[in-house]
Amino acid sequence: TDPRPGTAAPGGVLHPSRAAIGDRHLRRDRWWLAPAGTAAGLLAFVVYSTWRAFANGDYYAAPYVSPFYSPCIAHNCVPMKGGADWDVIGSWWTLSPALLILIFPLGFRLTCYYYRKAYYRGFWASPPACAVAEPHARYSGETRFPLILQNLHRYFFYFAVIVAGILSYDAVLAFRDADGHWGHMGLGTLVLLANIALIWAYTLSCHSCRHIVGGRLRNFSKHPVRYRMWGLVSRLNARHMQLAWASLVSVAVADFYVYLVASGAFDDPRFF
Ligand code: FES
Repeated sequence: TDPRPGTAAPGGVLHPSRAAIGDRHLRRDRWWLAPAGTAAGLLAFVVYSTWRAFANGDYYAAPYVSPFYSPCIAHNCVPMKGGADWDVIGSWWTLSPALLILIFPLGFRLTCYYYRKAYYRGFWASPPACAVAEPHARYSGETRFPLILQNLHRYFFYFAVIVAGILSYDAVLAFRDADGHWGHMGLGTLVLLANIALIWAYTLSCHSCRHIVGGRLRNFSKHPVRYRMWGLVSRLNARHMQLAWASLVSVAVADFYVYLVASGAFDDPRFF
């Protein structure tokens, strides 16, 4: 019998074929804390990054460039030392250059296995937590449009590697001073270095990366190098959630730091 008379064609745990338990779930802990915290954290990042992506200013303070605007490939990028402004798009593009490039890291994170779990739980409550029934009556998983597009994750991984390579180049350029002389080190250099280290750790801990490195092999004994790399990636992979958050925070901090210096609100302390 229908455990909730009056509800039309119930699905999931409310389906007549399931045990007729009146409670929606049997958890007694504060299970809602994790999805609520996740949703709040992601929302804060979305609000911050939207503001910065559309700001179209204060993203370069020689020698530092914000990771939100790198590579800067539009004609309207501010001039940067060392050729970090790549005019490959032409003058027809008049919006913020960040919008051209953020598609790739955004696509990478949106389709990430961890973030999928995070926003399915945090925003869609599908399901909100382990052993808590979701409110939706129908479930098709990721088998239909648009969620089937989550399968593009592997391709976003390739782009993410390219973007990480370019941010590494930016971090190297941060060792030059505003006049182009090598040997500079300021607080901004350390901020960009910490950020790129976390970006690489997050990117290499990706599940797709783990499969690319060690998947589709019949046996590891004939592929010792790939086995070793797979072991390293697997160790990072075990920390994927932590790295996802750490790199999300670091990329926002790096951008905010450049914003503060570029807008004149803060003077970059110089060590060398
Ligand atoms: Fe998270 Fe690939 S699974 S980045």
